[in-house]
Amino acid sequence: METEAQPPFSFRMPVKIVSGAGSGGDVSAEMSELGCRRAFLVTDSHIAASGPAFDKLIKGLGPRLAGVFNEVTQDSGFEIIDKGAKMAADAGADCVVSVGGGSVIDTGKGICVALKNGGSIRDHMGVNILPGPQTPHIVLPTTSGTGSEVTNVAVIYDSLEKRKKNLLDHNIYPNTAVLDPEFLLGLPPPVTASTGMDAVTHAIEALHSMMKNPVSDALALQTIGLMGRWLPVAWAEPANIAARGHTLVASNLAGAAFSNAMVGLCHAIAHGLGGVARVPHGLANSIALPHVMRFNLEAEPKLYDQAAKALGLGAGDEVADWVEGMARRLDLPTTLKDAGVAEDSLGEVAEAAMTDGAALYNPRPVFEPDEIMPLLRLIWAGS
Ligand SMILES: [Fe+2]
Repeated sequence: METEAQPPFSFRMPVKIVSGAGSGGDVSAEMSELGCRRAFLVTDSHIAASGPAFDKLIKGLGPRLAGVFNEVTQDSGFEIIDKGAKMAADAGADCVVSVGGGSVIDTGKGICVALKNGGSIRDHMGVNILPGPQTPHIVLPTTSGTGSEVTNVAVIYDSLEKRKKNLLDHNIYPNTAVLDPEFLLGLPPPVTASTGMDAVTHAIEALHSMMKNPVSDALALQTIGLMGRWLPVAWAEPANIAARGHTLVASNLAGAAFSNAMVGLCHAIAHGLGGVARVPHGLANSIALPHVMRFNLEAEPKLYDQAAKALGLGAGDEVADWVEGMARRLDLPTTLKDAGVAEDSLGEVAEAAMTDGAALYNPRPVFEPDEIMPLLRLIWAGS
């Protein structure tokens, strides 16, 4: 008699998803549904100059556009959020519309919080401490990567401590995610590759997390299938609207999966690499993931059997090879050495990784920096 019971779980996904080419032109209707009148648009200078999809969004917003803040940088920090929140307040905005990749979306989440509560975003950092709904937030992702449009976390760089910090709160889920593949048509292949590998990492880490559950498993497995089929196409053919649409949906599914199942040691290391060595998030994950998977497999040999089946592979360790093969196919560096990381920074990366909450959910428990130093040296050198 089979007796293995499903452990108890809960799953939360409060974000409305609107998907389709050209859907960015209909943001005004989404604002109306949320009871909002004046939108503060958060983006970066590259996207703000990026062409037809952005123009269609601006035209659609018409007089409801209260202001545009295009000063978000990669790994945006407290100062940028505070500046944006002040501008939004001065403009009389009652909602935020974020258009961009993970840094823009997370900055938008921070602006929503600072705009609602006043003061600096530094005063509101924490885990589930916000008292209720925040400033309404509509998000248009421009990469098929972070999935941040459906998550309850904002990663914010603290320039004083040289560390990325998490604002994790059920009240910072965006209200609406608008998935318009037209925004991705100009994305350069290296960015398509690294952000796509971030989404693959979300799916794999959701599958191996201590918090995995049947709903997150279903979303993560669908992500891997879609990315395996379409990420190389989107990379090779940047203007392929079908490939952009499939990868954008895939990254969204992965976001919903890991927002509930959480991530693991790979993300803890990637956050460490981002803070200490400024390695872009997706690239750091792409380099570290196959090694973290093999590290986990040593403790739990059946860990990736489900993923292997979904990908038509024979065993779990072949999934780690599949991930590494995908990175090579997308022409990404596969070692930290090739990514320009100094070997003598690994100790600091290990320290940062072990203070990152993501490590708590890794299926192979790790607590001390020394425990992951051999793994980090492997990720640095490649073998
Ligand atoms: Fe990520």
